Amino acid sequence: MSTISSPSQLSDQTGRTVVITGAGSGIGRAAANAFAARGARVILAVRDLDKGRDAADAMDGSVEARSLDLASLASVHAFVDGVQEPVDILVNNAGAMTGSRTQTRDGFESQFGVNHLGHFALTNLLLDRIGSRVVTVTSSAHSSARIDFDDLQWERRAYRPFGAYGQSKLANLLFTAELQRRLTGIGSSVIATAAHPGWASTGFRISSGNRVLDALMALSTPLLAHGPDGGALPTLLAAAGEVPAGGFAGPSRMGGVRGPAAVVEPAAQAKDPDVARRLWDVSERLTGTRFPLVASAEA
Ligand SMILES: NC(=O)c1ccc[n+]([C@@H]2O[C@H](COP(=O)([O-])OP(=O)(O)OC[C@H]3O[C@@H](n4cnc5c(N)ncnc54)[C@H](OP(=O)(O)O)[C@@H]3O)[C@@H](O)[C@H]2O)c1
Repeated sequence: MSTISSPSQLSDQTGRTVVITGAGSGIGRAAANAFAARGARVILAVRDLDKGRDAADAMDGSVEARSLDLASLASVHAFVDGVQEPVDILVNNAGAMTGSRTQTRDGFESQFGVNHLGHFALTNLLLDRIGSRVVTVTSSAHSSARIDFDDLQWERRAYRPFGAYGQSKLANLLFTAELQRRLTGIGSSVIATAAHPGWASTGFRISSGNRVLDALMALSTPLLAHGPDGGALPTLLAAAGEVPAGGFAGPSRMGGVRGPAAVVEPAAQAKDPDVARRLWDVSERLTGTRFPLVASAEA
């Protein structure tokens, strides 16, 4: 499967276990539904357990909800402690945009903390149990972003919500690139991929700080965007399709806004290995987690 235009095209997933963050709604829920329908055992990693259980109940197959708040490193540790079984695919899907500067429980700027650092910690802590892929959901907003190492947490500059969101989504792609470099370095068969949904009509709201722009986006979303199933197609391709190690999937039509998912190219700043390494080192320090694997004797 090198492209996918419907969730029903997902290959048989019987015998596989998939963990999806933020799977109580939107794209994560649609992806979880597709995996469950194709026979996978699915763990919905959600911050609202009631909502997650409702979502699990609405899906056919082996689906359960477990508590995970990516705005809390303690919650990430507790979630990982509860995962005793091998995991085939981890989908780092959850994400949020906040219109003003807020902080996670650990004092990180929320978008960077939830969208990047929470998933960074989750992946490192779970990686020794993962057998196939780590998929991270980013956004086309990465293409206008940069990583500001002098003020990663927006403590010294005026807060720009869309700038902070874009930085967190660029971090998702740099994380994927560096994770893949490390996996390749130890001869692991696990691969890291990324996906962006284009524009999907979900619970996600643009909070750019510009009320007029936000209102226009909210009005046009139901008209121009695809639904959650369409938004989940790149995730499904990145998780189970023919995507190269470190590869990126996204919609192939309307300039990457919607349509069948295919392998696409990230912006140049997402491919800078020096920035990716530096971000990894900073993220290790901030989260207190590290790449846990070493090369096996046979590798
Ligand atoms: N929709 C789009 O057009 C679009 C475009 C580009 C990228 N994306 C990306 O696609 C991904 C999925 O978004 P979506 O469109 O499906 O939006 P959504 O419906 O709002 O789903 C986002 C999910 O993330 C969860 N989440 C937020 N903060 C969390 C936290 N601290 N801990 C755990 N889970 C948390 C939310 O949980 P609750 O249900 O509890 O709020 C929700 O289930 C995100 O990464 C987003 O950045 C979306």
